Amino acid sequence: MSPDSTPRHIAIIMDGNGRWAQERGLSRQDGHRAGVENIRRIVEGCVEMGVGYLTVYAFSTENWARPEEEVNVLISLLGEAIVRQTPILHEEGVRIRHLGSLDRLPQHQQAAVRAALDLTKENDRLVLSAAYNYGGRAEILQAVRRMIEDGLRPEDVTEERFGEYLYTAGLPDPDLILRTAGEMRLSNYLIWQAAYAEYWSTPVYWPDFGKEHLAQAIADYGRRKRKFGGLLKE
Ligand code: IPE
Ligand code: IPE
Ligand code: MG
Repeated sequence: MSPDSTPRHIAIIMDGNGRWAQERGLSRQDGHRAGVENIRRIVEGCVEMGVGYLTVYAFSTENWARPEEEVNVLISLLGEAIVRQTPILHEEGVRIRHLGSLDRLPQHQQAAVRAALDLTKENDRLVLSAAYNYGGRAEILQAVRRMIEDGLRPEDVTEERFGEYLYTAGLPDPDLILRTAGEMRLSNYLIWQAAYAEYWSTPVYWPDFGKEHLAQAIADYGRRKRKFGGLLKE
């Protein structure tokens, strides 16, 4: 058991791969490769620090707007990582979930994602959710469409029921949203689920973000006073 001061669910916006590469005179592709590699380190850190749920923003619905070459590089690096990392994560007791739509992804990748979800579905050491081809607004719209298809009546549409139609159904809301590379925005990430999350941002670029930074974020979180609109209990 981890103490109350440890966030149960951390959601990360892994930003700054491009700037990391540029500062080293490398290509953006090299930056993305280093970024995808770094996910392992942080998964490990979360397991060690007693975090139960880790969600990572791997590719947004807006990222399709990047040059085709960069999109292809990202998609292929992420696809390789799914294939390569799934057996290792499974071995470590990690459950993999996917948040987003598989629609625009290559067929073989759709199959690889489905296989990863299926293989790891009984694991409970850490739930690793990959927000891959994910957008918060798209998520909300698909939920509304499916609720209408299911014939829900207005009075059935509660926050709980709505949550069951989101990609995150069954996951607790994120306690801590962490963004690397200095930006202070959500970029369409978990916009419903983030209602009461604590925010934390660091100038460190994602490929350089290590366990020591994760530990710092968790320590800072532990000192926050969460009130959820109420008053603090003495
Ligand atoms: C994050 O790094 C990776 C994705 C958004 C997929 P960026 O590619 O956004 O890096 P910067 O922001 O250009 O430095
Ligand atoms: C957010 O980063 C998306 C991911 C990390 C996958 P971006 O780099 O795409 O965000 P903006 O464009 O700076 O808002
Ligand atoms: Mg960026």
